Amino acid sequence: MKKQTVGWIGAGRMGYEMAGRLAKGGADVLVWNRTKEKAKPLEKYGAKVADKVSELAARDIVFCMVSTWKDVKEVVTNLLAGGKKPKMLIECSSISLEGSAELRTLLDQQHIQYLAAPVSGNAKVIKAGKLTVVCSGPKDAFDLARPYLDLIAVNSSYVGEGELSRIVKICHNVFLGVVTQSLAEITVLAQKAGVPRHAFLDFMNQSVMGSTFTRYKTPAFVNLDFKVTFTPHLLRKDMDLGLDAGRKFEVPMPLASATRDLIQAMIGQGWTEQDFATLLLQQAEASGIKLKPENVEVGDGLS
Ligand SMILES: NC(=O)c1ccc[n+]([C@@H]2O[C@H](COP(=O)([O-])OP(=O)(O)OC[C@H]3O[C@@H](n4cnc5c(N)ncnc54)[C@H](OP(=O)(O)O)[C@@H]3O)[C@@H](O)[C@H]2O)c1
Repeated sequence: MKKQTVGWIGAGRMGYEMAGRLAKGGADVLVWNRTKEKAKPLEKYGAKVADKVSELAARDIVFCMVSTWKDVKEVVTNLLAGGKKPKMLIECSSISLEGSAELRTLLDQQHIQYLAAPVSGNAKVIKAGKLTVVCSGPKDAFDLARPYLDLIAVNSSYVGEGELSRIVKICHNVFLGVVTQSLAEITVLAQKAGVPRHAFLDFMNQSVMGSTFTRYKTPAFVNLDFKVTFTPHLLRKDMDLGLDAGRKFEVPMPLASATRDLIQAMIGQGWTEQDFATLLLQQAEASGIKLKPENVEVGDGLS
């Protein structure tokens, strides 16, 4: 198989780790990030760093991992501004169905193959080799991309043509928001009734209701380390994408609606720079208690 040259747009929390895995895996990667210094450390894994995004257009496959659809549109427009074009674009940011469809039209006109490939897992999950990807678009594009996706993720699911992967990812993140809020509610309830958080979560994590997610959020819930993995603003964006899709497809989403507003309330209180798991602190405040770190060593299930 011919080795493809790879371009990588976006070295934020997620993009940095994903591009790092590609470079460490031996792929020929040229990275561009709006804030160049953030991409520079990738050189130690063998990646090259570009000054301008348009330099990536001569690559075979270009990955994109930025923030919103508006940002994706801007960087892809700049990527193609110099007249060169890659064979394929793999777009991994969490964006709307409509944005993804608009991108497909734009790329189709230029005969660039397009794989919509949002992901599940945070930066630590990527490092642990447990990221998962959901892909849609032409099957032959998926087959060509597969060896590179395999360097980044433990599993890549192909769910069909068009923007189908976008709705899968939106559903996934609606669940993330609702589960986090629910976990915050029951953890505070158990604590107010007298159960330490570490003891409660130890039981939950081993029970049928425990999951990779409840395990890796446990250190934050127990010791109140809210170093950001995913911001409240990005989670609100995904809840809004879910509610928009619910309106479009006429699906009631009462739990998602309530959770979206709780995230909004958290943002309104100024909790924007820490991890979205500060939903726990908001829940504690609403319950009339102030949480303290328990300072108990608990595993995250990843290492
Ligand atoms: N964090 C998670 O746990 C997680 C999990 C799954 C999916 N996601 C999704 O993955 C995407 C990235 O998330 P993240 O947590 O990595 O975010 P992040 O740390 O805030 O990184 C955002 C990246 O996008 C770049 N960017 C944003 N707007 C841009 C623009 N207009 N032009 C050029 N570059 C721009 C930023 O460049 P600068 O460095 O210059 O700011 C940075 O590289 C989002 O769509 C998010 O919803 C996140």
